Amino acid sequence: MLHVVGKLEAWRLLVPERSHMSTLEAHEYWEQHYGAHDRVWTGRVNARLAEAVESLQPGRALDLGCGEGADALWLADRGWRVVAVDVSHTALQRAAADALYRGLERRIDFQRRDLSDSFPEGAFDLVTAHYLHSPARLNREHVLRRAAEAVAPGGLLLIVDHGGAPPWASKLAQDHPFPTVDEVVASLDLDDNAWKRLRVESVSRSAVGPEGQTFTVTDNVILLRRR
Ligand SMILES: C[S@@+](CC[C@H](N)C(=O)[O-])C[C@H]1O[C@@H](n2cnc3c(N)ncnc32)[C@H](O)[C@@H]1O
Repeated sequence: MLHVVGKLEAWRLLVPERSHMSTLEAHEYWEQHYGAHDRVWTGRVNARLAEAVESLQPGRALDLGCGEGADALWLADRGWRVVAVDVSHTALQRAAADALYRGLERRIDFQRRDLSDSFPEGAFDLVTAHYLHSPARLNREHVLRRAAEAVAPGGLLLIVDHGGAPPWASKLAQDHPFPTVDEVVASLDLDDNAWKRLRVESVSRSAVGPEGQTFTVTDNVILLRRR
């Protein structure tokens, strides 16, 4: 069982802890972030992943920016073989400890990488990137293009982004240029004949803020199938 120690949302991550963040290395920022708390995320699977994958036959999955591993564990529990990547050693250690505790360690290959610099080998039936936003160095466009390339024929690419910042987030977060779904799809530069759009839309969900307050927030959901 995962230990749920908080209900923090990813918005916390857009609150600056240092001023020159565009030059901050990803591992430096995210180690500091994960190291500041026993646990950062709830341990629950992301709702959009569960919706997209629940009825699928398990195969090979790649989770980009897996954090403390809730999505990777959920997939592995359903029989998927998962490669789960994150830049934070601390986050991966927590994920690996949970995998061991749940007897899922043989189904998940946790890899520490800075995705701006290196990407896992192989083809996957599902490539998922949830809230892959960062105040530190992240060549997101490049990473998401590599994500699309890694999808096997017939496989799925799932990108879920924040549509915007909630009212209680910092000014920096409010000013963050979150891309629209159309901008993200355009940036992938895909051959339309080779991909089917299953879902490209903004959807609302309920989120809990740091003081326990509930808000409606927007997810940008992009779900594509490679033909
Ligand atoms: C907002 S969190 C989302 C975590 C998880 N996907 C979730 O939905 O809870 C973004 C994650 O991406 C990871 N990350 C950010 N930049 C990265 C990079 N350049 N390479 C690999 N992982 C990165 C962070 O360490 C963090 O765990």
